[in-house]
Amino acid sequence: MIRSLTLSLTCALLLAACGDKETDDSGSVSGGDAANGETLYAAKCQSCHGVNGTGEAESGVSGAADLSVEADALSDSAMVDVILNGQGGMPAINVSQAEAEDITAYVNQAFGS
Ligand code: HEC
Repeated sequence: MIRSLTLSLTCALLLAACGDKETDDSGSVSGGDAANGETLYAAKCQSCHGVNGTGEAESGVSGAADLSVEADALSDSAMVDVILNGQGGMPAINVSQAEAEDITAYVNQAFGS
């Protein structure tokens, strides 16, 4: 409970701080459209990773990773690779390279710190 409250506050602060900027400063993929990524995330990722990105704890899907951790742990290019090619228990997701970059921008902005 406290953790999800903290996460919500962090997201609110991040969104307030980052506003309309399309770039983030955490890696090599620049120009990903986070607004488009949010729509794609809801359609392609949320069922397993949850609306707050916390994964199994939230969605109940066995082993789904906590994206608030992965957003900071993975480079942007590594996250794009996971989306396009899958990894372990996660299937490859049927999106284009550009869409994967948009999703990555959103995941970093919404869930990263
Ligand atoms: C069918 C369920 C499912 C969907 C849909 C899904 N994931 Fe995953 N995801 C998983 C599971 C399960 C893992 C843990 C994989 C493992 O390490 O075995 C995972 C792991 C990850 C990881 C961590 C990879 C690592 O290096 O440890 C990232 C990042 C990720 N997912 C992002 C996404 C994004 C972004 C989307 C949407 C484009 C998405 N996932 C869609 C189930 C899913």
